[in-house]
Amino acid sequence: MSIRTTAILNLKGGVAKTTTAINMAAILARNHGSRVLLIDADSQCNTTEFFGVDSSGSNLAEILRNAQHYDDPGAYAAGCIQGTQYDRIHLLPGDEMLMDMDLSKVEQGTVCSNVLRYLVEEVKDMYDHILIDCPPAFNAASAAALIAADDVIIPIKLDAFSLRGMGNLMRQIKNMRKINPRLKIAGLLPTMWYKDLQIQDAEKQLRDAGLPVFHHIRRSDKVDKMTFQQDPLLISSPNSAAGVDYRKFVAEYMRRK
Ligand SMILES: Nc1ncnc2c1ncn2[C@@H]1O[C@H](COP(=O)(O)OP(=O)(O)OP(=O)(O)O)[C@@H](O)[C@H]1O
Ligand SMILES: [Mg+2]
Repeated sequence: MSIRTTAILNLKGGVAKTTTAINMAAILARNHGSRVLLIDADSQCNTTEFFGVDSSGSNLAEILRNAQHYDDPGAYAAGCIQGTQYDRIHLLPGDEMLMDMDLSKVEQGTVCSNVLRYLVEEVKDMYDHILIDCPPAFNAASAAALIAADDVIIPIKLDAFSLRGMGNLMRQIKNMRKINPRLKIAGLLPTMWYKDLQIQDAEKQLRDAGLPVFHHIRRSDKVDKMTFQQDPLLISSPNSAAGVDYRKFVAEYMRRK
C-alpha cells in the first residue's frame, strides 16, 4: 500500500478539524493497523497538546523556517517526529510561532513551503497515512500542507456562515492545484450534525452541488469530554454517536481513494 497524505482543512474555525484528525488517527492505527503520522500545522497546537507531546524542541515552525539551510530538508524534518503514548501514532508537533508565518514569508523565501513534500518522500516507507491538522487560515503552514497532500478532507458545520465560506475555500484549493496538480478533494465531512430540517437541507444542497460528501458525524457531548480526558473517542466513548460515526467515516475514507 502506498502512503496517503491527507490535509484536514477549512478556513472556518471550530468545525472539528482537530477532532477529526485525532479520531481518524486513532481509528486508522487501532482498527486498521495503519502506521500514522499526524502533523500539527496549527499555531493553537491542539493536536500536540492532546497527545501531550512537547513542542519546545523541534517543531513545524522551526522546520518551515530552517529547512532551506539543510542539504536534505526531508531528513531534517523527519528527525523532528516524536512518538505518542499510542502504538503506530507518531506526531510532528506544532508551535505558536506558526501564527507569524503568513503567505508573504513564502513569497519572500524565508519559509520553505515544499518541506512537507520532502518529508513525505523521506518517510513514505515508514507510514501508511499522514494526516495534517491545518489552521483555520490560509498561511504558510496550510500552503505547505496542500503542496504535500494527495487529498483534502473538509470538515464542515452545517450553518449559513460555514456554507458561505465554502466558495473561498474551493478557490484556494483550485489555486493550489497549479503547484500540486494531484490534489483531490476526498470529501466534505458534515460535523456536529443533529436531526433538523435546515441541517438536512444544507447537507442535501452540498450533495446536489456535486460535491463529494461523507456520511455526517453526529453531535455528541462526549467530544468535549474527550478533550479533557485526552483519549480519542475509540477509547473514551467508543459507543457514543460521534464515536460510531467516526468509525463509519474512516471506513468510507479508506474506500474512497
Ligand atoms: N461531533 C461533535 N459533537 C459535539 N462537539 C464537537 C463535535 N466535534 C467537535 N466538537 C467540539 O467543537 C469544538 C471545536 O472542535 P475542534 O477544535 O476540533 O475544531 P477545529 O476546526 O480544529 O477548530 P480550530 O479552527 O480552532 O482549529 C470543540 O469544543 C469540540 O469538542
Ligand atoms: Mg483545530
